[in-house]
Amino acid sequence: QWNMASFSKTLVEQIRAQVGSGKVICALSGGVDSAVTALLIHKAIGDQLHCIFVDHGLLRKGEREQVREVFQDRFHVPLEVIDARARFLGKLDGVTDPERKRKIIGHEFIEVFDEAAKRVGDAKFLAQGTVYPDVIESISFKGPSATIKSHHNVGGLPEKMNLALVEPLRELFKDEVRELGRELGMPEHIVNRQPFPGPGLAIRCLGGLTDERLETLREADAIVREEVAAAGLHDRIWQAFAVLLPVRSVGVMGDERTYDETCAIRAVDSVDAMTADWSRLPHELLAKMSTRICNEVKGINRVVYDISSKPPATIEWE
Ligand code: XMP
Repeated sequence: QWNMASFSKTLVEQIRAQVGSGKVICALSGGVDSAVTALLIHKAIGDQLHCIFVDHGLLRKGEREQVREVFQDRFHVPLEVIDARARFLGKLDGVTDPERKRKIIGHEFIEVFDEAAKRVGDAKFLAQGTVYPDVIESISFKGPSATIKSHHNVGGLPEKMNLALVEPLRELFKDEVRELGRELGMPEHIVNRQPFPGPGLAIRCLGGLTDERLETLREADAIVREEVAAAGLHDRIWQAFAVLLPVRSVGVMGDERTYDETCAIRAVDSVDAMTADWSRLPHELLAKMSTRICNEVKGINRVVYDISSKPPATIEWE
């Protein structure tokens, strides 16, 4: 009889058979696919696994700490956290074009990861959280987003690194990956995480990227996500996040005139991200987010709600 526990055992045996006593490296992104991949492989081969998490400075609030807490403290998975914030921001200095941002980040990610992997030395395998829909997409059909925006993931890595791939989730759909994660004891906040793009906050921070603007966005985004969760809507919404617009307008704070940037709130309902409708969030929730963002986040004095569907808009703003 098929169940997740016995399936998990089968996958563990397959991994052991494939890698033997070889060393495996794995790029953790904080997302559910790479997290479940890493945990499963760790279960199979223990410390032969070496995980690498690159902090490119475009992460959301608390993300790096969360990855450390879950993988290092809770599951004792060998984890190397690379602080590449200055390096990425340096390369992105003055860049405002969305595609250029994406290209630079994708390229830099591969460089940083490749250097780290070389330091590990004799690794023979690269673990990837490829899931069934990725397999299908790469064989037969490209979703519109694949051609409209260059997607960043670790796709360019295997060719460059000459490593054999370990892809234990290749036959699973997303909800099966989540179920497997639960089976392995993965905490709900990772199992149920909303999608977050590889280029991170860079493509939600329109215009030029500076430490200061990214920090402003990070704080506003944390409020949006906190309030969506507090309203009990996290699991019903496909994605909810903040976007920082390089548009300044006049406002008033106390009896002072302000001239600050604008925050757009984006929340969408979707089943596969190919199409999406803007979420009909309760007005009270929008009010709370707006008040908190204007009061608590330095650099923002106006909040707008994005009421565009995909198509014609996309989910992300860049
Ligand atoms: P768009 O903006 O094209 O996004 O409607 C569709 C879905 O894809 C996510 N997204 C990405 N995911 N790397 C990723 O891993 C990327 O470069 C990337 N760009 C967009 C987006 O968050 C949404 O879920």
